[in-house]
Amino acid sequence: MVGVCVVDSFAVSLPASVRRPTDVDLSVRIGSLLLSNPVIAASGTFGYGVEFAHLVDLNSLGGIVVKGLSAQPLAGAPAPRLCETAGGMLNAVGLQNIGVHTFVAEKLPELRKYRTAVIANVFGHTIAEYVEVIRVLEDAEGLAAYELNISCPNVDHGGAEFGLDPVSTTEVVTAARQAAKRPLWVKLAPNADVKAIAQAAEASGADALTVANTYPAMSIDPLSGRSRLGRRTGGLSGPAIKPLTLRLVHEVSRAVKLPVIGLGGIQTAADAVEYIIAGATAIQVGTAHFADPKTSESVVEGLRHHCNELSLYKINDLRRTLE
Ligand SMILES: Cc1cc2nc3c(=O)[nH]c(=O)nc-3n(C[C@H](O)[C@H](O)[C@H](O)COP(=O)(O)O)c2cc1C
Repeated sequence: MVGVCVVDSFAVSLPASVRRPTDVDLSVRIGSLLLSNPVIAASGTFGYGVEFAHLVDLNSLGGIVVKGLSAQPLAGAPAPRLCETAGGMLNAVGLQNIGVHTFVAEKLPELRKYRTAVIANVFGHTIAEYVEVIRVLEDAEGLAAYELNISCPNVDHGGAEFGLDPVSTTEVVTAARQAAKRPLWVKLAPNADVKAIAQAAEASGADALTVANTYPAMSIDPLSGRSRLGRRTGGLSGPAIKPLTLRLVHEVSRAVKLPVIGLGGIQTAADAVEYIIAGATAIQVGTAHFADPKTSESVVEGLRHHCNELSLYKINDLRRTLE
């Protein structure tokens, strides 16, 4: 038996007798993309990555999904935008972002200095807007993939979210596929018929599915009688949603052949392992970064430790092992 030591993507075979604790192969393949490990920072919870460089070793992460990018900058929703709930957090940020042009001009040159895979999260309110963002990014160097956020209102169809309807999903993913040469991940809304949406995305050319976004939710201050958010409703994230999204990952990973990237409430390596056992090839860490920006880094180390404890040589051996 041999252990596999991955050093900067060079795989070296070692006899088991000289296997060291760090020799676990954490690398994962998402379609054509090879990540050094399965831990990715989730969109909207890690800025544009570079803002965290003084706190976190960005090269230690498998990937970074940047804040959702639109064709034009967006100011976002009125305050308050965040509120804590039992076991989770509500947000109504309103997809505030600097816009794709400023991202390419100011953030991407900095991000390119790191080995970590950078994934651009893309959204729009029309199909043309999604395509426009991808067109701008296609001309830029330094991105590994796109992640389409389809939990956005489709203004051409009365404001219904793209990702709640297989037809709208097919339209937006087909258009994005035609515009994108890079790998295309599609991020599902959890409050949909996820199996039908996953199959529509797969048939339209997606390379991977991210499962899932936040759950529509609300919180009311009983004294004032007002919403605790500037917008009445928001999205629930954090540990409270982990059991719900874990089931979605289990369901989606059996409904399609595409790799699934699981996220929702991951705080520890043990949480990540649950997602991998359920069927995820990789995982993302989101809300946990608000409590500790180094969470993703700790999850990478925790996964290495977990594999060592179980005498596993490859993290991939854990995937879809639910009994
Ligand atoms: C403050 C905040 C902003 C977010 N912004 C985005 C975004 O721009 N695009 C997107 O696809 N998801 C966004 N999300 C959703 C997260 O990426 C993730 O899907 C969700 O929070 C569930 O994971 P978690 O429980 O680990 O946070 C955001 C989440 C939060 C909390």
